[in-house]
Formats: sequence, C-alpha cells, structure tokens
Amino acid sequence: MGRLDGKVAIVTGAGSGIGKAAAKLFAAEGAKVVCADVTGAEAATAMEIGPAQAAAMTVDVSKAADVREMMERTKALYGRLDVLFNNAGIEGAQAPTADYEEAEFDRVLAVNAKGVFLGMKYGIPLMLETGGGSIINTASVAGLVGFPGIVGYTASKGAVVQMTKTAALEYALQGIRVNAICPGVIRTPMVERFTSASPDAEAQLAATEPVGRMGTPEEVAALALFLASDESSFVTGAALPVDGGFIA
Ligand code: NAI
Repeated sequence: MGRLDGKVAIVTGAGSGIGKAAAKLFAAEGAKVVCADVTGAEAATAMEIGPAQAAAMTVDVSKAADVREMMERTKALYGRLDVLFNNAGIEGAQAPTADYEEAEFDRVLAVNAKGVFLGMKYGIPLMLETGGGSIINTASVAGLVGFPGIVGYTASKGAVVQMTKTAALEYALQGIRVNAICPGVIRTPMVERFTSASPDAEAQLAATEPVGRMGTPEEVAALALFLASDESSFVTGAALPVDGGFIA
C-alpha cells in the first residue's frame, strides 16, 4: 500500500532537483503524477516513472493560460486533482537592493510568487470538485528571514509564505489544506550553478547549515510527501523548514 494510493498529483518544476525527486517519490507511493516544467526536462522525469503513472506537460507557471490548460488536461486525463506541489522556481540575480534590476525583480516575482498564485487560483476549483486536497508551496528559509543580495528572491518567497497562510484559512472548511515548505541549502542544479562559480562556495554554503552539510532533494521530497498524504490531515497553514537547523 502506498501513502498516495488513488491520488492524482501535479508537481511543477518536475524536470530538476526537488520537483523531480518529489514526482518520483509521489509515484512510488502510488500517485498518478503530472510532471510539469518549462524546459522540456519534465518528459524525462515522466519517462523514468513510466506512462502508466505519469504524464509530462510543458508549462510556464507564470502564464495563466498555461496553468489553466494544465488543470484542464489533468482533469481530462485523470479526472481529479488531489495534490498540487507548486515547486517551480528560479533564483534570480544577486545584487544589493539599490543595484537590483527592476526587470529582474519582476521576472523572479512572476515565476516564484505569481506562479504559486496561479497554481492555487486554477487548482483549487478542481480540488473542490472532489471534496478537497493538499497544496504544497515551495517557499524557502529566504521567505522567513532576510538574505542580503537577493531581494527579488526573498520578496517572492515571503509572498509564498503569506499566500499559503491566506489560502489555508480561506479553504480550511472545504477540505483543502495548504502548506509551505522552506528548504535551506539543498544540493540541486540551482545551488550547483552557484557553487560551480567558486571552489570555496560549496564548503561555505554547507557550513551555513547547523548539521554541517547541504540537504538532498530527497529529504525535501519526504516532507512534501508527508504534507501530500493524509498523515498530515491536521496540518494546514504551516511554513515548515527543512533546513538542517538553519532557522533554529
Ligand atoms: P532547480 O533549478 O533544480 O529546479 C527548478 C525547476 O523549476 C527547473 O526544472 C526549472 O526549469 C523549473 N522552472 C523554472 N521556471 C519555471 C517556470 N516559469 N515554469 C515552470 N517551471 C519552471 O531548483 P530546485 O533547487 O529544485 O528548486 C525547486 C524549488 O525549491 C524552487 O522554488 C526553489 O526556489 C526552492 N528552493 C531551493 C533551495 C535550494 O537550496 N536548492 C532552497 C530553498 C528553496
């Protein structure tokens, strides 16, 4: 028996990192999984899982038409939506606030914050058709505390935390739970793009985590699985760190 038997899940950002690990874990626990990404890499994740349990959809989460179509195709394919993992995200540029480009701020907010809003806006009606579901939004420890140099990213992730709490309160009586996960430094292509720039960066990043190492995508996926499953039936409106103790 799988922990997600009979459930249908959408995972955005499923072509890489945390989303890929979660899509595979959700499927291993019995869910049918829509693997969504903007790059085309979602096809490889769906292929790894296999056609009986996964479908790939190329989706830009910052575009309403794409997100709406993803919900329509999910309904046509699987008839319902039980789990929505709004996980797609970009890191954006690094610069102090006065030097941070306005266009870059808009770009990061469009994917990380508006993308989560659109997922909830178009996913919630589909969940309500079958009595509810679980929404998991990927925020970050950067949505909980300040981080110099990444004002677009921190703004976007703070917005994710607040949208999560708002939607959780709005739909609590209708069977939809909404939670955010707040990863610390996780070894994914997003972080590897940063660590590859300097030989010291990897050790410095690992040292920021009290446990002395980066997390793995699978360790984040495990929390997403708990929130997706009925085991977390009394958990909603939470912003849960998975960060090796960073927020402590
Ligand atoms: P990643 O770069 O490996 O994966 C992110 C995926 O999102 C990529 O496949 C990318 O193509 C996809 N994506 C980007 N823009 C998109 C769009 N407009 N529409 C659809 N898909 C899009 O990065 P990672 O680390 O797996 O990130 C997943 C989430 O976790 C992100 O929201 C990120 O901000 C968050 N996060 C990551 C941390 C880390 O240390 N890796 C720490 C805290 C949060």
